[in-house]
Amino acid sequence: MAIRDIITAPDPRLKEVSKPVDKVDDALRRLMDDMLETMYAAPGIGLAAIQIGVPKQVIVMDLAGEDEKPAPRYFVNPELLWVSDELATYEEGCLSVPEFYEDVARPARCRVRYLDYQGEIREQDCEGLLATCIQHEMDHLKGVLFIDHLSKLKRSIMLKKLVKAKKSQEKEPA
Ligand code: NI
Repeated sequence: MAIRDIITAPDPRLKEVSKPVDKVDDALRRLMDDMLETMYAAPGIGLAAIQIGVPKQVIVMDLAGEDEKPAPRYFVNPELLWVSDELATYEEGCLSVPEFYEDVARPARCRVRYLDYQGEIREQDCEGLLATCIQHEMDHLKGVLFIDHLSKLKRSIMLKKLVKAKKSQEKEPA
C-alpha cells in the first residue's frame, strides 16, 4: 500500500467526470488499498479516486468513531437508486478543500447500488452521516465539490483563500 498525494482545489482534475470501472480485479483492489491508506493518513472519512488523480468511479470510506475498530467501505460504480424528499444538513468538509467547513443540505436518506471490494453487486440503504458522505463522494465522481452547493459568493471567497494558501505553500522552502 502507498500513500498518494491528494489534489486540492482549485485544480481542473477535480472537475473531471470519472469513468465506470470495467472489472474489480487485483489492480483495482490495490488502488482501493492505496486510497484507504491515503484517507486514513490525511485523516478523512471518505475519498474518491479522482482526489488522487484517478478518474475512476471508486470511493472508499470509514465512518467508525475514534474508539471503534476500523470499518472500511468500498463503493465501485455507485448509482443512486432513490433519494428522500426530506433533506438533512451537515457541516461538510473535504480533503480537497482543506480547512473549510460549511453546512450543505442533501437528501436525508438514499439507496445506493454498487460493487464491493470483491466485485459483488450490493445495495445499501443510507441515512445520517452515511447518506451525506456517499452523496458527497458521488459528487466527486461527477466533478462536483461540496463548495459547488454553496452560494457563488461564498464559493469565490473560499477559492480565493485556497489559491492564496497554495501560493504561500509554494514559497516555503522544501
Ligand atoms: Ni470530498
